[in-house]
Amino acid sequence: MILLTGGAGYIGSHIAVELLEMGVEVAIVDNLCNSNRSVIERIESIAQRPVVFYEGDIRDAALLASIFEMCPIEAVIHCAGLKAVGESVTMPLAYYDTNVYGSICLCQAMQKANVKKLIFSSSATVYGPDAEVPYLESMPRGVATSPYGVSKGMVEKVLEDLGASDPDWSIVVLRYFNPIGAHPTGLIGESPQGTPNNLMPFISQVAAGVLSKVMIFGNDYPTSDGTCVRDYLHVVDLAVGHRASLRVLDSPGMHYYNLGTGCGTSVLNMVQSFIEVTGVDIPYQFAPRREGDLAAFWANVSKAEHELAWRAEKTLNDMLSDTWRWQQYAIVHGH
Ligand code: NAD
Ligand code: UFG
Repeated sequence: MILLTGGAGYIGSHIAVELLEMGVEVAIVDNLCNSNRSVIERIESIAQRPVVFYEGDIRDAALLASIFEMCPIEAVIHCAGLKAVGESVTMPLAYYDTNVYGSICLCQAMQKANVKKLIFSSSATVYGPDAEVPYLESMPRGVATSPYGVSKGMVEKVLEDLGASDPDWSIVVLRYFNPIGAHPTGLIGESPQGTPNNLMPFISQVAAGVLSKVMIFGNDYPTSDGTCVRDYLHVVDLAVGHRASLRVLDSPGMHYYNLGTGCGTSVLNMVQSFIEVTGVDIPYQFAPRREGDLAAFWANVSKAEHELAWRAEKTLNDMLSDTWRWQQYAIVHGH
């Protein structure tokens, strides 16, 4: 059985489906601070298999101890955390508390239970603003530009020190690029609370008529059309990447992988492609640059391809049409 922290969230729910569909038992712990209990039922309905769900906090040592006592956990996939870059600037303590202290609490509970296999949700943001593109796992971590990004780098360092202290640990650090899209059933996807900060949910809420237009932050970057370039990958491909990483947990030590497509797409191209794929008009307007944004970054994905035999398979069209299918379901069902 795998313990999945944050499994009711956007990425975690897709990982849960993948694991259940490959026959793995899943226990989820999530405090639902950025998700909804009904996600658990929707995961079960897609996979047609039950999930063990604990509503609670990863910083609750007693809860974690009881989960390890009650469930035959062999490995942990750790997705729980706070993820809004802008919010982390105004609430740094909450971010360090949940992301760093929460990860330490989890590792302490794992150590006590003698479960030493961990997959951690990290981010491309750890490469920092000065790294050359495409990003390679062998590059050093830089100084991330937000407390959120710093918290991810701090957890990576904590895990490295833990791994160095005890050779029995096997730790996979997955550095996600820009996950978008939703499950093809349209039953699970990203549901940001309030106005979305990220591009994809913003575009889809404009398409749904919830928001009036997309503001494109900056059109004077040194890129082909002047707008920022990112490596967008389908959340189902990302989830499959976790499934592929499970094999690596049989080898003790630290393992780092970029999970992206290896291709960059500009903001303007995203808006125009969404219009083409869905047939829905998206009014947009150029606006000043957003503070802290990098002009362009994407992944070198050779390491994941060779060592995990994993490659993102879904196209940009899949990402956009699946997002739109989910957005329409979410509006109708109030998610
Ligand atoms: P999400 O907010 O949808 O999911 C995170 C889940 O963790 C939520 O269900 C939330 O309720 C839960 N949670 C938060 N604090 C908790 C706590 N203290 N105890 C228990 N549960 C808690 O976010 P997501 O997009 O699914 O991201 C999952 C992970 O991937 C996060 O660690 C995030 O930093 C990382 N990540 C996300 C992206 C992205 O663009 N979405 C990119 C890089 C890395
Ligand atoms: N953008 C707009 N308008 C919007 C929202 C975004 O033009 O309304 C632009 C941004 O300026 C940026 C691009 O769209 O150029 C992508 O922005 P997102 O906020 O969707 O994604 P980021 O690349 O800024 O950040 C994401 C995650 C982080 C993670 C990072 C790297 O939010 O958690 O990818 O993995 F660290």
